[in-house]
Amino acid sequence: MLETSPLGQPIPRVDAYAKASGAHVYPSDVVLDNMLWVQVLRAAHPHARILSIDTSAAETLPGVVCVLTAKDVPGENRFGLLVHDQPVFCEERVLYMGDAVAVVAAETDDLARQARDLIRVEYEVLPPLTEPLWALQPDAPQLHPQGNLCAELHLGHGDVALGFAEADYIFESSYQTGRQEHAFLETEAGAAYYDEAGILTVCAGGQNPFKDRQQLAVALNLPEDKLRVLHPMMGGAFGGKEDINVQIHLALVTQRTGRPCRLMLDRNESITVGVKRHPFQVRYKTGVKKDGTLTAIEVTILADTGPYITLGPAVIGLAAEHCCGPYYFPHTKIDAQAVFTNNCNASAFRGFGNPQVLVGLEQHMDIMAEAVGLTPIAFRRKNVLQPGQAAGPGQITPASISLPRVLDAVEQGELYARREALKSGVGRWKRRGVGLAAAWQGFGLGAGVPDGATVRIELQADGRYRLHASSPDMGQGNVTAFVQMAAHELNCSAADFEVTIGDSLGPDSGSSNASRTVFVVGSAVIKAALDLRSKILAAAQRLNTSAEPPRFTGRAAEVNGQSIPLAELAVEFGPLVGEGYFHPQQPTPVVVGIPHPAYSYSVQMALVEVDLLTGEIEVLQMENYLDAGYVINPAGAEGQSEGGIAQGLGYALFEDILLSEGRVLNPRLSTYIIPSIRDVPAQINTVLLQEPEPMGPYGARGISEICLSPTAGAILNAIYDAVGVRFERIPVTPEMMLAALAGQTSN
Ligand code: MOS
Repeated sequence: MLETSPLGQPIPRVDAYAKASGAHVYPSDVVLDNMLWVQVLRAAHPHARILSIDTSAAETLPGVVCVLTAKDVPGENRFGLLVHDQPVFCEERVLYMGDAVAVVAAETDDLARQARDLIRVEYEVLPPLTEPLWALQPDAPQLHPQGNLCAELHLGHGDVALGFAEADYIFESSYQTGRQEHAFLETEAGAAYYDEAGILTVCAGGQNPFKDRQQLAVALNLPEDKLRVLHPMMGGAFGGKEDINVQIHLALVTQRTGRPCRLMLDRNESITVGVKRHPFQVRYKTGVKKDGTLTAIEVTILADTGPYITLGPAVIGLAAEHCCGPYYFPHTKIDAQAVFTNNCNASAFRGFGNPQVLVGLEQHMDIMAEAVGLTPIAFRRKNVLQPGQAAGPGQITPASISLPRVLDAVEQGELYARREALKSGVGRWKRRGVGLAAAWQGFGLGAGVPDGATVRIELQADGRYRLHASSPDMGQGNVTAFVQMAAHELNCSAADFEVTIGDSLGPDSGSSNASRTVFVVGSAVIKAALDLRSKILAAAQRLNTSAEPPRFTGRAAEVNGQSIPLAELAVEFGPLVGEGYFHPQQPTPVVVGIPHPAYSYSVQMALVEVDLLTGEIEVLQMENYLDAGYVINPAGAEGQSEGGIAQGLGYALFEDILLSEGRVLNPRLSTYIIPSIRDVPAQINTVLLQEPEPMGPYGARGISEICLSPTAGAILNAIYDAVGVRFERIPVTPEMMLAALAGQTSN
């Protein structure tokens, strides 16, 4: 029987029915018998010395089962993805308002909250370091023994002084980007319990069960095989659940009490505690000749990483790698620093440093294009990296890159063709503009970083397949793509699959991050499917008495002219399990993480309308020309595009966690405004260009992050087209717009 392969089809999500019907159990939904409720006491000051902690009143409150502080951590009181520097509970000093001081476990949530508020902590308040520019000055408060520098990178090639001397125009400006909150629908949440096998199990929102388990083992002083981490499909992560959040606190309570427990952070707690997108201060200096040839670029990046290392060094690494764009500058100089402050902790967020630098780079590209009299498209096309040329950090561009084809598509697109008509006739107090921004974004973890994935596919006794991968699906649809790839290789339909994902029992397919899962895990899925197929055929061969080799049809094997259902083979010769391992071939590192094995390319174009009376900016239409490589699921790719654009729109126009002396001023979704259906343009047109990436499965590329990265730059260029004002800070609020317009008229 011939099946239609689901590959390349917009099939529904494998999780759609369970989620829509309410059957799916999210991490925050886990409720067990005899469960304790956990609350965490957080720091009362952004920077203070702890003089004493008195938990006696909390402990004697009836219904309170335990109160834990630093002295109750059996292992190392530290965790972290790159370096274990973040305390499970602060013992001597608190470094931000999200720091944990104690946890309370009680019979009810109310009791846990009451008890938490009964803990008395005496502090000696210290001056907070809240200004990243101050962090490296000698008189700044020292947050860590090694100082306030989290990481720095100095990259480039050629001689920028020479490059600027050759330029006819030199432009220099500074940009400041907002502190974006992930604002996932489901805050950090989970449960801990002993499973039937007596294994201490933590079920929580997260992006890599193996990384979580490693950190739990160190803090709990348990061997890793005595711990299990589950990451069921959750209500979003976007990078914000790579770092440990509730997991260790939950596990400690269960380890101490033997009882199951649960915790879900309130929204204001989530906003205060959770990591953010790094706010950047970026200085761009670019040089260009009259004929539009780029001569030099100098980029200085200062990132506010908050109190702990988290993924700060990796984020500035990716920013440094991407800050010169996919363009050829004969001379480059890149200086990037991440500094510690007592502000919000900052770590991974979809785009991972690229959205920040593109705000400056893509405005500079338009500024230079205008100066030399070329269109934004022609100017970018003229300067695209050619094979053999050095990219910003110095690595040599290996093969032709697809940005010119993407730019061609933009030029042939609807918004570009109709731009003058769309801008005209909008009334006296409105102005419209069209702008674009281009992006590249590496996918995978980058040169020199272990990036392997193992996947298993099992033929079950009922004849159905089960796909096992540890990389979770946080809502992006990667598991549906995995199933489509496996079904394609096994000649069957997606409905023939069940999945086990996000489980540290393995196999280890690595993190769901860095736009890597379709690329790396997907490649392992194909290998696992082919391995299983050959095992099924080998099993069938054992029944074979004819000269004809057995044939595999997807639901059966044909042997001796008979069709044997797979269930029979599984029962007779099982277990039949296919395993696949994939590690992308990585280029030679410039430094660890740079460059990436492959990139995706995109140009986004925005049509905006500015209200001259209120300063409001409305995005009326967006186009995303996305080279996604081969598209496994067009509906999934469009969903990524629309979601990324919505998040990028918020980044450009509304979103910024505001702090005063280290305290969050807008820790609620009523004061921290994310785009709603009224703000997202009714028309988002995603054009999926499919230039195959040779290393990707069927030619697929990773696309999650690049759908957000250029959005703010495109909107800022459209704003300039509308009103002739360039902004050096995002989000661009109505107040900023009115002030800029007032400045313009008074000049
Ligand atoms: Mo990510 S921002 O690599 O989850």
